[in-house]
Amino acid sequence: MMILAKLNPAIINHRFLEHNRKDQTNPLQQKHQYHRQHTYKTTERLPPLVKVAVNSSSPSNRQASSSVSAASCGELVDEFDPRYADQIKNPRDFFTGRLGNVEYLVCRDEVGGKVRAFHNVCRHHASLLASGSGQQQSSCFVCPYHGWTYGLDGALLRATRIAGIQNFDVNDFGLVPLNVATWGPFVLLNLDKDSFPQQETEVGKEWLGSCSEILSNNGVDSSLSFVCRRVYDIECNWKVFCDNYLDGGYHVPYAHKGLASGLKLNSYSTTIYEKVSIQSCQGSSSDSKDDIDRLGSKAFYAFIYPNFMVNRYGPWMDTNLVLPLGPRKCQVIFDYFIEPELKDDEAFINHSLVHSERVQMEDIELCEGVQRGLESPAYRIGRYAPMVENAMHHFHQLLHGHLQN
Ligand code: FES
Ligand SMILES: [Fe+2]
Repeated sequence: MMILAKLNPAIINHRFLEHNRKDQTNPLQQKHQYHRQHTYKTTERLPPLVKVAVNSSSPSNRQASSSVSAASCGELVDEFDPRYADQIKNPRDFFTGRLGNVEYLVCRDEVGGKVRAFHNVCRHHASLLASGSGQQQSSCFVCPYHGWTYGLDGALLRATRIAGIQNFDVNDFGLVPLNVATWGPFVLLNLDKDSFPQQETEVGKEWLGSCSEILSNNGVDSSLSFVCRRVYDIECNWKVFCDNYLDGGYHVPYAHKGLASGLKLNSYSTTIYEKVSIQSCQGSSSDSKDDIDRLGSKAFYAFIYPNFMVNRYGPWMDTNLVLPLGPRKCQVIFDYFIEPELKDDEAFINHSLVHSERVQMEDIELCEGVQRGLESPAYRIGRYAPMVENAMHHFHQLLHGHLQN
């Protein structure tokens, strides 16, 4: 599952500047983490997207407005904190996390199995209430500082040693709630004031717009089992990674020869929605390569502006979260899910992951090369290939609008 918070510039700035991410406390991440470390040697200016003209692309850093700083790059990016269904499958299951300066606690209540979310902050003296994730032994959270105790619904059940206190009503000191909803395999947190709609279909529409049904109908659902996480630190601006994803398969025959043999590249199509683009492609009918089983008869790749991807192919789904770590560095978190009947097929899983890993390495090499190219004095502006790079152009248009605001 996934946590999503809507845009909150103050929070995002903070998160963007938070370079040391090694203290994250997701046990699944610890268990499966794969880090590709690079030396981060300089602080070049962000190659910005200062202007999106029809059919011209990728202004280089030579066109950089000095006002476009590294921090503004972070401001554009929604905050995500990927989590998994398994973590709150049962009553009293919970997980905690941080989105910018918002410490949150998500749990499943015993009453009706309702998913609840709160600020993970004790109302006494602001201690963090819970930490990590797991299942509570009892139906409450006890503050580790002075023992104030809260129910799974956030109510203050017990305030210790408050005899003599005046003007105090326990009803005024429950945990501060956060808006939470689930959609398919994801849990969404909304840090804006507005609450989520009640119906899951409406939640999907709010998050994904008119394509939410398409994702549901193409197997992005809660039946999938989490397999593992891979984390890649890449020496490129976060937008370079997104651009690479959004070129309509343009680079596939040149840079991913193994993958190309598993796809019918002439069937590649791109559909643009409000803030989502979906690229799709049929699997190859030839039986020449191993990737065919992994990719199935159809693959689709959904980009959810500005930095989240959902990929569904064969029995697999993976999600990619792109986090800016600096003007020329980002981190990409891959979470892999599989259809439940294959979740114990270790051989197939390992085989697929090896193939996927190869594709990621090929993409990383491309992205890091593009980053260096953008910094070169030779590059000023590129061109869009109109037949294939529609999703990239859509991304740039949204980004341009965002930068203008
Ligand atoms: S801060 Fe939680 S009980 Fe004092
Ligand atoms: Fe690629």
